[in-house]
Amino acid sequence: MRTTVGIIGAGPAGLFLSHLLHRRGIDSVVLERRDRSYCESRQRAGVVEHSVAEALRASGVGERMDRDGFVHEGIELRFDGRGHRIDFPALTGRNVVIYAQTEIVTDLIARRIADGGRVLFDAEATDVEGIDTESPRVRFVADGSEEVLECDYVAACDGFHGVGRSALPTDSMRCFDKGYPFAWLGILADVAPSCDELVYAHHPRGFALHSMRSESVSRLYLQVPSDTDLGDWPDERVWDELDTRFALRDDDWALRRGPVTDKSLTPMRSVVTEPMQHGRLFLAGDAAHIVPPTGAKGLNLAMHDALLLADAFTSAHTDGDTSGLEGYSATALRRVWRAEHFSYWMTSLLHPAPEGSDFDRRLHLSHLDHIVSSPAAATQLAENYTGLPRV
Ligand code: FAD
Ligand code: DHB
Repeated sequence: MRTTVGIIGAGPAGLFLSHLLHRRGIDSVVLERRDRSYCESRQRAGVVEHSVAEALRASGVGERMDRDGFVHEGIELRFDGRGHRIDFPALTGRNVVIYAQTEIVTDLIARRIADGGRVLFDAEATDVEGIDTESPRVRFVADGSEEVLECDYVAACDGFHGVGRSALPTDSMRCFDKGYPFAWLGILADVAPSCDELVYAHHPRGFALHSMRSESVSRLYLQVPSDTDLGDWPDERVWDELDTRFALRDDDWALRRGPVTDKSLTPMRSVVTEPMQHGRLFLAGDAAHIVPPTGAKGLNLAMHDALLLADAFTSAHTDGDTSGLEGYSATALRRVWRAEHFSYWMTSLLHPAPEGSDFDRRLHLSHLDHIVSSPAAATQLAENYTGLPRV
């Protein structure tokens, strides 16, 4: 099998890249080790940055997002029993769209298939070879037999545990990482959201987040210890803990409860691989970098990498101009490190450290109070949360 760009992984990065390349007349093949329904139902992120929403619309896959997603013009920071709104358009002129990653993936798969794209499910890449040559190859296994995808370029969009990153020569790459002593327990529940906008709550017992998927589905998260066993968290315990962390002092705000349809743990970590390329192999999305989910940046970074790579492949393939490809990693890493810092900052701001002292707790409250009372501080949060403009 032969193609121009061999793409490993049918997550947001791989599918968006394949879709963008198709619109520019460049052939690609996407190899995905899971089946289609698994990819379309894997619960993950929910916040789409302003410029990513614009890019989806501009490339013709924003229709369902504009119909079923929610434009949000702010978030609530809740701490010390009180809520404070951060108004995005007033501070930055930008907003975000609440539209689940599962829906973006569903839309992109449907469009790729309608456009005659080759997305091979149940096809696991096992090795990437020849990245220092002009004809790299991806070895993969489909239907029990070994096959080879020959390409001009390989885009590894295969997530943190994929084969792409491990094909980079170890002596020319560096990995920067940081761990956190907590995780997120997430639930999806068949109940109308209890708020109109997302609520990020800082509480002495831990962080909590109220998000949503539709008018009848809520998505909620709780900070829990890293070694948490989901078996210790029956639904009632999750709801009781959420109630405690969201409680307001002088308000009868109540959290609506409903049947829990999904429950999972998300570890928290920060990782950056540098450079994000070698020879004819390019990494995009989680394959190159991981952020803790607090700033809602993982999905958005993956989409920005795909946008950059699509431009760079187009210039190289159409005009023979390889400068975009040569500079891909350096350009992408500017946004990546900004998002890494913001995600780390939001995580530190909102999560009490398990071993934190009373002094640390006072610092947290002072920091939060500064953000909600200083337009300059609030603007910094809003600017990063809604996403920096495309470069
Ligand atoms: P992925 O979505 O991981 O896609 C990679 C694809 O590659 C997968 O489909 C995988 O099956 C496939 N693949 C892997 N190896 C191979 C192989 N060898 N051969 C073929 N295919 C392969 N971000 C947020 O902003 N908010 C959140 O709440 C949030 N929650 C998350 C929860 C979890 C459990 C995880 C893991 C991530 C979460 N993220 C969240 C991060 C966000 O979802 C990711 O940043 C985003 O999915 C990155 O997209 P991607 O396309 O780079 O990678
Ligand atoms: C969601 C996830 C996030 O990490 C976040 O900051 C906001 C919303 C979500 O899954 O809806």
